[in-house]
Amino acid sequence: MPTTPALPGLTVVSHPLVQHKLSLLRDQATPKKIFKELVDEIAMLMAYEATADLALAPVEVDTPLETTTCQRVAGKKLTLVPILRAGLGMVEGILKLVPSARVGHIGLYRDHDTLEPVDYYFKVPGDAAERDFFLLDPMLATGGSAASAVSSLKRAGATRIKFLCLVAAPEGVERLRTAHPDVPIFAAALDRELNANGYILPGLGDAGDRLFGTR
Ligand code: URA
Repeated sequence: MPTTPALPGLTVVSHPLVQHKLSLLRDQATPKKIFKELVDEIAMLMAYEATADLALAPVEVDTPLETTTCQRVAGKKLTLVPILRAGLGMVEGILKLVPSARVGHIGLYRDHDTLEPVDYYFKVPGDAAERDFFLLDPMLATGGSAASAVSSLKRAGATRIKFLCLVAAPEGVERLRTAHPDVPIFAAALDRELNANGYILPGLGDAGDRLFGTR
């Protein structure tokens, strides 16, 4: 699948279908139902790319004709971790591709005084050190939540983490990359900049509001 190395640590999944679907997602006229379906489909296509280096192990398989050696994904199940709430929109699409993946959750809010993200919910499988994690959030804006969520996963023992988003701002990529240079970032687009309110330009608006119809 075509990918573009955009900034250090960032892979932009530039497949024509991803770009086509992203253009529909950006359109403010796209209704909630279609928006959700598009997030689902783009997340699935991105997961195809982000799973390209999963470890394989040989297995013997009896075909109707003979026994042969095949390859299966090795080790503990991949774990998806959506950052609440917009990250939830990316889970189902990836599960269509990797149905046995485990799903953890991270809830974060921004403290009004410090403006720093604070965990209010954290649940991932216990054997985190042995798993691959995909941390999910459609928008990588300031990077504060993403960097904090990665820190929480690492505290739980995770060592193999990828961050998947739909739209990234250069500021967010830089912040996440600086805090966690070991975490590869996958995006469908690298946009221009953040506005004064922390929205990505040109972006697609508030992904959570558009997914859940709370605008
Ligand atoms: N979160 C969103 O949903 N949209 C943005 O543009 C930035 C952060």
